[in-house]
Amino acid sequence: MAEIKTIGILTSGGDAPGMNAAIRAVTRSAIYSGLNVKGIYRGYRGLIADEIVDFHTQNVSNIIQMGGTILKTARCKEFQTPEGRQLAYDVMQRHKIDALVVIGGDGSLTGARIFANEFNFPIIGLPGTIDNDLYGTDSTIGYDTALNTIMQCVDKIRDTATSHERLFFIEVMGRDAGFLALNGAIASGAEAAIIPEISTQVDQLAELIQNGFRKSKNSSIVLVAESPVTGGAMGLAERVKNEYPGYDVRVSILGHLQRGGSPTAYDRILASRMGAAAIDALMDDQRNVMIGIKNDEIVYVPFTRAIKKEKPINRDLLETLRRLSI
Ligand code: F6P
Repeated sequence: MAEIKTIGILTSGGDAPGMNAAIRAVTRSAIYSGLNVKGIYRGYRGLIADEIVDFHTQNVSNIIQMGGTILKTARCKEFQTPEGRQLAYDVMQRHKIDALVVIGGDGSLTGARIFANEFNFPIIGLPGTIDNDLYGTDSTIGYDTALNTIMQCVDKIRDTATSHERLFFIEVMGRDAGFLALNGAIASGAEAAIIPEISTQVDQLAELIQNGFRKSKNSSIVLVAESPVTGGAMGLAERVKNEYPGYDVRVSILGHLQRGGSPTAYDRILASRMGAAAIDALMDDQRNVMIGIKNDEIVYVPFTRAIKKEKPINRDLLETLRRLSI
């Protein structure tokens, strides 16, 4: 295989806390291994627009503790077209970039897979998304921080829910996945989580109310994953008003605050390990894989598997939540 001398690094899609720690780890590991590094700004959009600068160790000083991404990020429609990808390839040729490290979620790694196949170009992916919806890794970069943010928000909402004896539906992010809602509910001691993974199988709201979930309580917190499949917090609150009058219902949509903030120690360590592993993978002639960590071991997950949307939720967690909410 052609020797790799220069790598490009970019962040793409929704930002996630820990992306900076990953940029730092990739940059420093690459330089440590004798490679040149080019920082590509604004994801695939910046690649097409040639927003590329040389990166040295100092470019990534003092960023491990910062949320967001110093490289900025974007969702790029142009990269979804063959013409856009050709432009991106031409820019990389001009900069003599031999391989790419892409930090992002499902959409970003889907783009990476198509591009890598089209141009036979080496790409390593790092799972950077708060949603935790990539197969082959126990956790994605940013998920733990977002979970902690959700927990802190729910703790605060609980104070007012208890004082007013209200039922709160709190909507969290996750796109089509319920990891944040389910684990956020356990961590914050919520009564239930309404998640897309089981929304088509059972009417979770009806089940919740019929089971008398407020038998011994005056206030209740239910976490709702944002997916259209769950109906969202607004939809569920409307249903309660119509079908189960008598509850004093309120809604809180946590929104983008879930994506911000300084990464937790867990996310910093995860991102640092994964970033270093991305360079090991390239040196080891690995191509077109996402770095994952399973049972504390680094694993290489082919893009096709990682993005297949088949990461299962752990159903034992649903049972734990049910038991602990009596
Ligand atoms: O994928 C991360 C995520 O925060 C999802 O949880 C959410 O559905 C989406 O991005 C929001 O995207 P945007 O910031 O583009 O509105």
